[in-house]
Amino acid sequence: MNELKKQIKKIEEDCSKELKKARSLQSLESVRIAYLGRSGALTDLMTQLKTLSLEQKRTLGPLLNKLKNQLHDAYESRKKAIEKKATSPAALFDVTAYKPNQLHGSLHIYTQIIEQLSSIFMSMGYVIADGPEMETEYYNFTTLNIPEDHPARDSHDTFWLSLPDRLLRTHTSSVQAHTMENSTPPLAIFAPGRCYRNEATDASHDFMFTQGEGLFVAENVSMAHLLATAQTFLQHFFGKSDLEIRVRPGYFPFVEPGVEIDGSCPFCMKGCSICKHTGWIELLGAGLVHPNVLRANGIDPEHYSGFAFGFGIERLAMIKYGVNDIRLFHSASIPFLQQFA
Ligand code: DAH
Repeated sequence: MNELKKQIKKIEEDCSKELKKARSLQSLESVRIAYLGRSGALTDLMTQLKTLSLEQKRTLGPLLNKLKNQLHDAYESRKKAIEKKATSPAALFDVTAYKPNQLHGSLHIYTQIIEQLSSIFMSMGYVIADGPEMETEYYNFTTLNIPEDHPARDSHDTFWLSLPDRLLRTHTSSVQAHTMENSTPPLAIFAPGRCYRNEATDASHDFMFTQGEGLFVAENVSMAHLLATAQTFLQHFFGKSDLEIRVRPGYFPFVEPGVEIDGSCPFCMKGCSICKHTGWIELLGAGLVHPNVLRANGIDPEHYSGFAFGFGIERLAMIKYGVNDIRLFHSASIPFLQQFA
């Protein structure tokens, strides 16, 4: 009888130890079979019990039953623990699945640059505005002081649509009238967006490109406001707090006076290939909003004045990042896009 008691004790110890050691459901199952299975150690003891006297059965029976329940419980709780661990996030994350050269998605350079520009203008209190890419002659030309017989219409190489009075906008200046129609000064908007021109493409021209248009209308707005805004914007965009600007006369029918704004080359002191050895780069078209434009949009030019500016977004990005062909932007070339990932 003492021999059997010893065996019970040993089974209890061994089985508990092995259950604890089991790390997978598979190894746990072999422990179960070895101790609790039909020909396992515990069943073996039960069979031996049958051969004993009634007295011995009375003492050893309850001991064996207790052991059986105890091992069953230990088995179940170990099983639950293993199953829980197998479905935890840590177990599902397979570090060996990492492949260093896999392609990663990223924001397109268009998105990145428009976000950069928008956040600079928003920091100056501007609101981001939008307008349709399919426009009418009125919004693209007439309201911007470009009447039907004006030669500026020809220089815009317009894509006319087969629908009556519909074209693809040639510039984002068309957003000016949409904004002025629906609001009263003071107003400050920045409108980034896609434009189209029916012209042959080369490294610096494309039939589809993006422009940014700024418009500020309030009381007593002057050229000084325009120049300070342009310089602040360019300094932030190129990350150069000492960037200077230079102004030349320019002609755009919707501004008077109209100017072209150059920025001092962000890359050199005296001249490099980017600024064509002049130290200056042409960056913005701008001017004070023409009274005809204000009037056409219900704003009294005797009371309000404003400035507007426009630029090619790809052009600024090409200068900032050293891109040599505008067509790369919508080429979907992975090597090109990965440089901005
Ligand atoms: N819309 C002009 C273009 O496409 C750019 C421009 C020039 C916008 C002068 C302006 C401006 O607002 O004042 O070339």
